Amino acid sequence: MSFTIAGTGKAHPKLVVTNDMMSEIVETNDEWISTRTGIKSRYISTDETLFDLTLAASKQAMKNADIAADKLDFIICSTMQGDYKTPSLACQIQHAIGAKCPAVDINAACTGFIYALDFAAALMDSGRAENILIASSEMMSKHIDWSDRATCVLFGDGSGAAVVTKGDGLLAMRLAAKGDEKLLVIGGSHGNNPFDKKTPVHEYLTMEGGEVFKFAVSSMCYDVKYVLEKANLTLDDIRMVIPHQANMRIITAAAKRLGLHDSQIMSGIDRYGNTSSASIPILLSELIENGTLKKGDIIILTAFGGGLTSGACIIKL
Ligand code: UT7
Repeated sequence: MSFTIAGTGKAHPKLVVTNDMMSEIVETNDEWISTRTGIKSRYISTDETLFDLTLAASKQAMKNADIAADKLDFIICSTMQGDYKTPSLACQIQHAIGAKCPAVDINAACTGFIYALDFAAALMDSGRAENILIASSEMMSKHIDWSDRATCVLFGDGSGAAVVTKGDGLLAMRLAAKGDEKLLVIGGSHGNNPFDKKTPVHEYLTMEGGEVFKFAVSSMCYDVKYVLEKANLTLDDIRMVIPHQANMRIITAAAKRLGLHDSQIMSGIDRYGNTSSASIPILLSELIENGTLKKGDIIILTAFGGGLTSGACIIKL
């Protein structure tokens, strides 16, 4: 069914911001951040644009997949906001790599990579594409309120990409959404409409962390069990679960509830923080690059995020 992952890539800004550096910006400390989240540092952009990161990750994925730009049939970028509202990030990438195919951005917050994979599967199944570039890229540093210690310590910037080609590697997929405008919100600009009478929305990210935490654990457990049943597999068949990297305590709680072994769970949250939809493809790329994951391994990707959205899929590499 659908696709095989042919190559992956990743990119992050140069600047490493440690927890000690965060404690110079807001009233926090390494001990609180490490024990409550597992985060030790994150990459924050200085002169890099989202386009720069996405181009670097995309080129790496295309090189590893041995796919030239003219062979791509579609480019899908998942992001909460590119450098521009228009052109889309996907169109910027299409132009930069010299591809001729359609290109579009999608926004499913932190679940964006899994949504993009599902759309890619649908394009492949309908016969409209054989090679698709997916890049999930987020610059959370421009969405967070740097004076709010409850949220600004959690996030980082980055991009993860994958080239998927027609194949039979997708064993099961589940997407879900539960619309909510309270628990995790990033406001939009009202512009300078002189007739506007609406109350301005809060521009930066606000979050009810405890509620999102509960949603995260329950949705990941539900989605993972759902795809396992759909693929007629058990956790013993799974080499590794790659969860969205939001908080190590969320990952540990879900892993415990599902009954995963330590060797089946991997995390990069200590070095990256939460990079939203980029977190899964960044980690996937790292694990393939360092040889932890090999051809034939069966893995589960699972995510949750703003929207609220969630999803999981089982892929044979
Ligand atoms: O990609 C999806 C997006 N987000 C998530 O998945 C986040 C889900 N939620 C979480 O990860 C956790 O709820 C947080 C990490 C956000 C918060 O952890 P918590 O254990 O739920 O802490 P809390 O919000 O209950 O805060 C506990 C205390 C509070 O002080 P008081 O009221 O007990 O005196 C906070 O003011 O910790 C305080 N606090 C901090 N202290 C030092 C909050 N942020 C900080 C901080 N440094 N950075």
